[in-house]
Amino acid sequence: MIIVNHSLDLRAKINTWKQNGLSVALVPTMGNLHAGHLKLVNTAKQKADKVVVSIFVNPTQFGINEDFASYPRTEQEDQLKLANESTDLLFLPAIADIYNANAQTTVNITGLSNIYCGASRPGHFSGVATIVCKLFNLVQPDIAAFGLKDFQQFTVIKTMIRDLNIPIELMGIDTQRESNGLAMSSRNNYLTDTERQLAPQLYQALGIAQTAILTGQKSYADIEQQAIQSLKNAGFTPDYFSICNYHDLSSATYQDNDIVILAAAKLGTTRLIDNIYFSL
Ligand code: PAJ
Repeated sequence: MIIVNHSLDLRAKINTWKQNGLSVALVPTMGNLHAGHLKLVNTAKQKADKVVVSIFVNPTQFGINEDFASYPRTEQEDQLKLANESTDLLFLPAIADIYNANAQTTVNITGLSNIYCGASRPGHFSGVATIVCKLFNLVQPDIAAFGLKDFQQFTVIKTMIRDLNIPIELMGIDTQRESNGLAMSSRNNYLTDTERQLAPQLYQALGIAQTAILTGQKSYADIEQQAIQSLKNAGFTPDYFSICNYHDLSSATYQDNDIVILAAAKLGTTRLIDNIYFSL
């Protein structure tokens, strides 16, 4: 595995691969890698000759009161994990190499960026879209792999690729879970032992709502309200629990066949997100 810190060196390496006709996949991450990230890397390797993983804790996607400063940075362990997997190149840039001090350009996905997680985290998806667009331009991959755990993020990137004619094939990878159902996340590290016992109930609530829909319970609003109440009873502070159209995240109607249920809830100070998707 090659480790590259500077974008010019990255360009040079990618150019030699491209000149040799090799295809390239990109897996963008913020590090503190777990089995979910490694699943993205391994799936990408099945589709491309070379896999580039980036680790960059992107300041522009964190709000002023969020955890940019305390976000877990575990570079040494991450490097070992990636070297044991199918990573060909690890890109580890410094903030100054990525963001020009006089930068004036951002990428905004209007509408989609302001709902669900975007409503609670103003500016977050603009920060995500801008860094991902920059990484796409730096790496110029044929394929990019993202996790469906961050379903709204995936939809934002899908929409950006469509709207800006970006010539990249997007892969969405299923969520890697703990054996108790909890979606793996770097932020699970913030949970206390008690909260960790409660946390799987978020995915359980999604499963109960899915069953209600599949067994023909008609009022989606009632299903959402019941889920929110059960999460509150379990000790969560729910942000949203929304039954959506899988393709564009609009509120699902009874005509929709492809459904995703999106949920976000706080346990103590930790914000957890999860989702479940299925077809009727
Ligand atoms: P990060 O949270 O590090 O996640 C990197 C990638 O791993 C994302 O595509 C995310 O959806 C995926 N991922 C996280 N947990 C997963 C799980 N349990 N199963 C499967 N995939 C999982 O998401 C980001 O970083 C950033 O916003 C980024 C896209 C890198 C832009 O800064």
